[in-house]
Amino acid sequence: MKNVNASSEKLLIRTLKGEVAERVPFWFMRQAGRYLPEYMKLRAKAGSFLDLAYNPDFATEVTLQPLRRFNMDAAILFSDILVIPHALGQELAFKAGEGPVLTPVNDIKTLEALSMEGMHDHLSPVYQTITNLSKKMPSGVALIGFAGAPWTVATYMVGGRGSKDQASTRLMAYQDRETFSKLITLLINSTSEYLIKQVDHGAEALQIFDSWSGSLPAGEFITWCVEPVQKIIENIRKVYPAVPIIGFPKGAGAKLKNYIKKTKVTAVSIDTSMSTSWVRSTIQPLCTVQGNLDPLLLASGGIALENAVYHILDHLKDGGHVFNLGHGIIPQTPTENVKLVSDIILNYRR
Ligand code: CP3
Repeated sequence: MKNVNASSEKLLIRTLKGEVAERVPFWFMRQAGRYLPEYMKLRAKAGSFLDLAYNPDFATEVTLQPLRRFNMDAAILFSDILVIPHALGQELAFKAGEGPVLTPVNDIKTLEALSMEGMHDHLSPVYQTITNLSKKMPSGVALIGFAGAPWTVATYMVGGRGSKDQASTRLMAYQDRETFSKLITLLINSTSEYLIKQVDHGAEALQIFDSWSGSLPAGEFITWCVEPVQKIIENIRKVYPAVPIIGFPKGAGAKLKNYIKKTKVTAVSIDTSMSTSWVRSTIQPLCTVQGNLDPLLLASGGIALENAVYHILDHLKDGGHVFNLGHGIIPQTPTENVKLVSDIILNYRR
């Protein structure tokens, strides 16, 4: 293995690994997307969201769009967490105004119809996008690959669409534990291979999105969120021991501490609900944290936004910190606000 001197590594990578560097790096979850006019233009040209995501030229361009405006320290691959169920054979469409719609996988018969056999062929446009990006990234900017965590992906697979409380999936986990457990195992295996392939093609860090982990009681959180992510990370580290892995168990609250210890993530993304003083005293001593500006404040702007940005920077400056949002950018966000926040962070000194 190449012996990379710490100081030759990109700022984001060094920070994820725990260095308290000269500047706080930043990127924004869902930074490529509908708040950007140039995204909307390409999206209209491609036709559907999936046509955009599975076209390597378009997906490469969309990944790079936010960097041209805001000088982030990272780009996140343009794709979606639901390409995994799609690659396993589940039907998927993104409907205007509705979001993702899938044919539910909620019993042994529908589960057994899925398979990993054609998965990497199906995902080859995503791998091609990463290859393209690794040649086109501006210097110093890191490429983040990602996947959904098994629990969150399962909520869409079982429910067939997004929901507020993930009730149908939580019910299945209680009522048909054996089948649900098989579904999670399939997701652990496919997601591990998918993320390893992303690193093969040039991803420099990985994020695992568990957007709905907050809907589970403590014991179920261990079984369906912590243990599957722990296994995925073990599988990745057998091949890539040093690749930084960011976990995002949204809504985990005080359970975050145990999540970090068990999964051995390199860093965690913290959601908007967490107080930065609690994060500073309890989480930052364990690993680098990423977050946690409220995306609604980014959309609303003004002095309240500026104050919140400084508050986060000041509170987390003495430990490993990557500035980010507590969840994804919302479509109605004015680009001026994103520019304002980016400039504050770029000029901030610890
Ligand atoms: O961050 C980025 O810019 C990279 C691309 C990215 C997308 N989705 C593109 C996308 C990433 C990292 C995701 C992750 C994702 N997808 C998550 C986890 C993060 C989170 O927000 O909780 C989830 C739960 C999904 C599933 C998903 N995809 C939903 C529920 C929806 C519909 C709602 C919505 O936000 O639009 C999508 C569609 C989607 N994924 C869009 C984009 C840019 C919008 C599609 C469009 O252009 O119409």
